Amino acid sequence: MISKETIEQVLMRNDIETLIGSYVSLKRAGSNLRGLCPFHSEKTPSFTVYPADNSFYCFGCGAGGDAITFIRKRENLDYPDAVEFLAQRAGITIVRDERGPIQNTPKFDRNKMFRMNVDAAKYFNRCLFADNPEAKAALAYFTDKRGLSVATIKHFGLGFAPNSFDEFSKYMLAKGYTYEELVAGFLCGKSEKGKYYDAFRNRIMFPIIDVSGNVIAFGGRVMDDSKPKYKNSSDTPVFKKSRNLFALNFARHHCAESLILCEGYMDVIAMHAAGFENAVATLGTAITSEQARMMSRYTKKVIISYDADEAGQKAAMRAVKMLTEVGLDVTILRVPGAKDPDEYIKKFGADKFRQVLSQSKSKFDYNLDIILSRYDINLPQDKIKALQESEKLISETYSSAERDIYIQNISKLFGVDKNSVKDDVERMISKANAARRKEESNKVKQDAIGYSDRVNPDFIKAPAVAKNEEALLGLLLMYPEHRKRVFDGSLVTADDFITDLNRRIFEYLKNAYINGDDSHHDIDAVFTPDEHGRITKMKLSRMELSENGEQVLTDSIERLRRSVSKKNNEKNSSLDKLAQMIEQKRKT
Ligand code: CTP
Ligand code: MN
Repeated sequence: MISKETIEQVLMRNDIETLIGSYVSLKRAGSNLRGLCPFHSEKTPSFTVYPADNSFYCFGCGAGGDAITFIRKRENLDYPDAVEFLAQRAGITIVRDERGPIQNTPKFDRNKMFRMNVDAAKYFNRCLFADNPEAKAALAYFTDKRGLSVATIKHFGLGFAPNSFDEFSKYMLAKGYTYEELVAGFLCGKSEKGKYYDAFRNRIMFPIIDVSGNVIAFGGRVMDDSKPKYKNSSDTPVFKKSRNLFALNFARHHCAESLILCEGYMDVIAMHAAGFENAVATLGTAITSEQARMMSRYTKKVIISYDADEAGQKAAMRAVKMLTEVGLDVTILRVPGAKDPDEYIKKFGADKFRQVLSQSKSKFDYNLDIILSRYDINLPQDKIKALQESEKLISETYSSAERDIYIQNISKLFGVDKNSVKDDVERMISKANAARRKEESNKVKQDAIGYSDRVNPDFIKAPAVAKNEEALLGLLLMYPEHRKRVFDGSLVTADDFITDLNRRIFEYLKNAYINGDDSHHDIDAVFTPDEHGRITKMKLSRMELSENGEQVLTDSIERLRRSVSKKNNEKNSSLDKLAQMIEQKRKT
């Protein structure tokens, strides 16, 4: 469990307005701020930030909560990772122990961690050039199998972790590092029996170096087809995967024009060796918005150069979105006749690669290429299909000026009249708009009756009761001064709640009251982001009402009671009917 002090410090030091403002462009609306929701697509802003309450809520999709909820959703992180993310952002040091929970401990000295990693990198590098058969095989993997020169190997500080249980740990202990430090740095693991072992064994090693030149982590690859292919450092006190890029320490000096974004370490290394020193890669994960923002600080343009397979194409589309969102110019590279850029360079050479690089394409042209490669447009049926898919692609382009240009290109390419392409595209756009509007209005209708409520699935069972539950909870959430009357007097108990979510919220508030702590620091640990959204909604609907005094509380409790007993009566009467039916059956 993360301590209350840590959570409170993390929330206090991450001002919600600035935090969300770094992801969403917000405009002031009275004492609040409004913008386009980052969690669903919309054209009119229904996403609101409430600085006074340190919360946010979207009236379109129901996302809501505090800074931690926001980061959980936006960065797709679990609870402890989101807290850690925000802590790092605010410069608060928290350390994660082996099993996951994180604690606020200043025990680990960052500089010592960096020294430890450098010592490790040197050790792995020495092992690669050692005079024994194992080392020779590892070196041969780099030079013969992957075509790297010794100069490139040295430039990247590549290494080899021998196949030994604890040779490395023993060496590091002798150098003055403790097992705790080695485990925290992900260089050692600890078995269930409590034995320490080397984290990297029989793998070729890629040190990850930050822009200040510190060795912060390692990736280790097997030299055959065994699994897992890579083992990478988890996040450590000095390393955050989502905030670093492989080889940015070199690429930052060569990126005035552009950066090349690759999927793999080997792609980056092959590119640098071939003279393209502006290549970087993510660290075994899909690109994060954090990394996109980092890149935008170094350059204006990014060329995405992912693997040629379908997974690579999908990942490229995701990367385009991330990178465009932070204002970067983005093009995508295709490497015909190779599975990845590394293989392409090896097969066709640097000059050929320079050529394809200069032909990298915009998202539209890239997707058009893919369509054209799937059809033979000399065949009428294929041509129609390719044309339709291309028109669909145009209809998904937001800017109408851009659409006009594409329409002209497509009409030339397929030899069809410009105006008929335009008509088709417009029809597709209105069809998509109509479908979207219908979906939105259905959603509004369904929300109103609580139908298909994923967050509180019990809602549909008794909408009237559930609404009264929410009204009461909203009051208790927004105005803690009412809690004494309700909880001390047991005016309402958990048994009065019909829906499970609302009962849990009630119990949560009651516990908080009993513990004399209404800070709700653990709310994100107890509820999912969606549930926190619902809680925020209940609270806000109360905030917007002007009357919230004692009488409102009394009425609210009264209404809940009445709706519950009505519901119970209904249940009884149907039971009665059932009983009557059975009785009748028995008689006949
Ligand atoms: N990756 C990973 N774990 C895996 C597979 C891949 O972390 N089991 C990450 C690594 O960062 C790797 C990147 O995803 O560099 C791209 O994966 P892949 O294309 O499979 O590896 P390459 O580095 O290109 O390796 P190679 O060309 O040697 O197969
Ligand atoms: Mn690869």
